[in-house]
Amino acid sequence: QDAAHRMVLTLDAEGPTINRHLFGHFAEHLGRGIYGGFWTEGADGWELNAPVVEAMRALDPPNVRWPGGCFADVYHWRDGVGPARERPTIVNTLWGGVTEDNGVGTHEFVALAEALGAEPIVVGNVGSGTVREMADWWQYVNHPGPSPMADLRAENGHPEPWGVRFWGVGNESWGCGGNMSPEHYADLYKRYATFLHGYGDVRPFRIATGPDATINRDVPEWTEAVMRDAGRMIDGLDMHFYTIVGDWDDRTRATEFGEDRWVGAFARALEMDGHIRRVSAIMDRYDPQGRVWLIVGEWGMWHAPEEGSTPGFLYQQNALRDALVASVTLDVFARHAERVKMANIAQTINVLQAMLLVDGERVVKTPTYHVFDFYKAHQDAERLPFTLDAGTYAFGGQSVPAVSATASRDETGHVHVTLTNLDPHRARTVSAEMRGGRLSRVSGRVLTASEMTAHNTFEDPDVVVPAPFGGVRLDGQTLTVTLPPMSVVALDLQ
Ligand code: AHR
Repeated sequence: QDAAHRMVLTLDAEGPTINRHLFGHFAEHLGRGIYGGFWTEGADGWELNAPVVEAMRALDPPNVRWPGGCFADVYHWRDGVGPARERPTIVNTLWGGVTEDNGVGTHEFVALAEALGAEPIVVGNVGSGTVREMADWWQYVNHPGPSPMADLRAENGHPEPWGVRFWGVGNESWGCGGNMSPEHYADLYKRYATFLHGYGDVRPFRIATGPDATINRDVPEWTEAVMRDAGRMIDGLDMHFYTIVGDWDDRTRATEFGEDRWVGAFARALEMDGHIRRVSAIMDRYDPQGRVWLIVGEWGMWHAPEEGSTPGFLYQQNALRDALVASVTLDVFARHAERVKMANIAQTINVLQAMLLVDGERVVKTPTYHVFDFYKAHQDAERLPFTLDAGTYAFGGQSVPAVSATASRDETGHVHVTLTNLDPHRARTVSAEMRGGRLSRVSGRVLTASEMTAHNTFEDPDVVVPAPFGGVRLDGQTLTVTLPPMSVVALDLQ
């Protein structure tokens, strides 16, 4: 049967902006994310996959992070510029050992970002690169010229600088990026960051490797040392946290699981909240003004590889469970919007928790895609405060808050409320008292399915898709919403 929850929503309060960069993306040279994903092989080499770009554009993606991931610290950017046919190959030792032809390099990546209407985030190579190599890359993309790198860029067909401000200084430098101690990384970070000079209007927004919250072995130690030793030169600290359900060797499959791994996924995903609190508390000590962004540069569900796929390609299906992990995680980010200002789901196409599964011309939107579509209403909107008696949903000794939410007001005055019901059995009715304003119209959409494992395939792409939502009533100052079991609802109020 139904369960009732009370919410009080304040409409006239001032809140922090929910930074649009929280809804960001990640495209690594991994599996079929770049080659065979964003790009498809045409008669003249790699070309942007038009249906992919079209579907992604509709999400208003604020940014896209490239070229890795772990790949960033083996990548040498000079191999990826100049005539495509003359570029040397690179062996992607990290992901499947495949040989790539470097057909996608800096020019192609920035063209993708432009086609998506997204800001590029470039991650430079610290692990196997040099200070000069990174400084040259920065000059290549940003110096107006004349200069050695601007001249080379012009020779390669792009006289104008691109103005790329977001710049990662290494990736996971505690692991695949060089297995460094935090003190050693902090020193190296300062060295590399020193030589990223502002050119014209472009000042670098320098992003340092943050802690590894997935394994969770060094969250405080890493953050403490890096903020203490290099904090004044850091603009963003990039923590990574993946939702892995079960032990690594027995991690959950994407579309075959029981209720223990349904509830387990949310319990694990919601650990994000604690990681953010712990890291923020340390950042607050070294940066009390809140200048430095906490970034969650990689997050999402990491399942067992699909049967028959190359394990190193990290290809996985995406079910309703993934969608709800996305919505509750985005709610955590919104709750911490004062400090958390950028996040990148891993990854956008064909890799881990993807937006789209792509096979040549065939493109299928995953349930996670639809959540990002719902949540784009919160981009750069002002967060509204609320209290919510969320109740609990429990199974087999694990329990999580049953209902999760975010509320915001956009610049046109519309109020957006997204609500998630994690309970796979019971509808949950939320009765929201709205204070400090009067709203007279509400409309909504819902994402749900009849099975926890429901997912979309190339053959059957519309199993989990948004539908108009009829379960909402606005009566004076009271909004009554009946959330179906295992659903995400997005409301637009005016
Ligand atoms: O997203 C896959 C990998 O996960 C990335 O390359 C790395 O940064 C992380 O460990």
